[in-house]
Amino acid sequence: MKLLQEIKERAQQNPQRIVLPEGTEPRTLEAANSVLRDKVAKLILIGNPAEINRLAEEKGYTYIKEATIVDPENNPNLEKYATLLAELRKSKGMTIEEATRLAKDPLYLACLMIKSGDADGELAGAQNTTGNVLRPALQIVKTKPGMTCVSGAMMLFTKTPQYGEDGLLMVADVAVMPNPTAEELAQIAVATGETMRAIANKEPRIAMLSFSTKGSAKHEMVDKVVVATKMAQEKAPDMMIEGELQADGLQTFTDLLLENNVSYRAMQLANPRLPTTRLAPGTPYCAPPAYSRRLCPRGSRSYAMGVGESLDTLVETEGLSPALLLAANPTLAPGDFVPGRVICLP
Ligand code: ACO
Repeated sequence: MKLLQEIKERAQQNPQRIVLPEGTEPRTLEAANSVLRDKVAKLILIGNPAEINRLAEEKGYTYIKEATIVDPENNPNLEKYATLLAELRKSKGMTIEEATRLAKDPLYLACLMIKSGDADGELAGAQNTTGNVLRPALQIVKTKPGMTCVSGAMMLFTKTPQYGEDGLLMVADVAVMPNPTAEELAQIAVATGETMRAIANKEPRIAMLSFSTKGSAKHEMVDKVVVATKMAQEKAPDMMIEGELQADGLQTFTDLLLENNVSYRAMQLANPRLPTTRLAPGTPYCAPPAYSRRLCPRGSRSYAMGVGESLDTLVETEGLSPALLLAANPTLAPGDFVPGRVICLP
């Protein structure tokens, strides 16, 4: 949970404007009060101002007065947002009348505020279904350039440090795509890896899961994950991506691959008798030689950056020049040498 504190501190350094379309929902209001008290974000509450103020007063939420309240029924920007929506959905046959009606819907209004640059992000779903929250975002905010598929990831904080990164796992996609194609699966994998880097500041080790480990089962759903794994590896050659693999409740071959950052083939060569699915706790195994690690070429050493380390400290401790380190890690810029990142030492 230290990570949550870190995220909070990062947010406090650069508070964003977050719009909450469910401005009168009790849990939302309580959370909003804490966020404003801790100066984690600047908040915009959508809802009837008299009702929001009454609820806040009843509960003693004194910080709510620092929020901007937008009344969807009496919004001076209604025409601006309706025109924008009609323009965005013109090809879908949306009329200005329909756009005006939708621009009063808090979920649409929140996305229109983001699209117009009047807010930086949105949080909703306490009162509305995931589908209803997502639809306007997909229609209005859309994806970042180069991406066609929005996905959702969940962070699981487990009490078992052997899992993931000191007990932290990220699972995706758990919210948006009911049945992704191979291309979409690949995008989801890479986007989730980027989320791990951006939010947790950890180097992702991605397992593309299926009900098969390297051909142990045959099915069209397995084939899709095989193709997706290849696509994801091509999209992000600097990320550790392995598949197709089975997940399991106990220590598995999958865990070993990810822990050691090696390919399936290298692990199998080093451990020809090791079962490739579930392992009994405490099963001994040989770590494949360093050169077989996924990220680094033969002859170089993988190195996981430690806390407090940077390109500069590495230059000092390893006695290598910055130019040499950058040449050995062509996909990394100097600022990318952050704790958790696996780099190659020439
Ligand atoms: N990424 C980018 N755009 C998308 C995506 C996506 N993943 N999915 C749909 N779109 C776009 C479409 O291209 C379309 O754009 P357009 O209108 O500009 O052409 C628009 O969104 C609407 O697409 P439809 O397929 O017509 O949308 P529909 O409303 O049927 O479904 C939705 C989209 C809401 C995301 C649907 O896939 C869905 O309900 N997903 C599951 C949500 C859910 O229930 N999750 C579990 C909840 S539990 C939890 O979250 C913890």
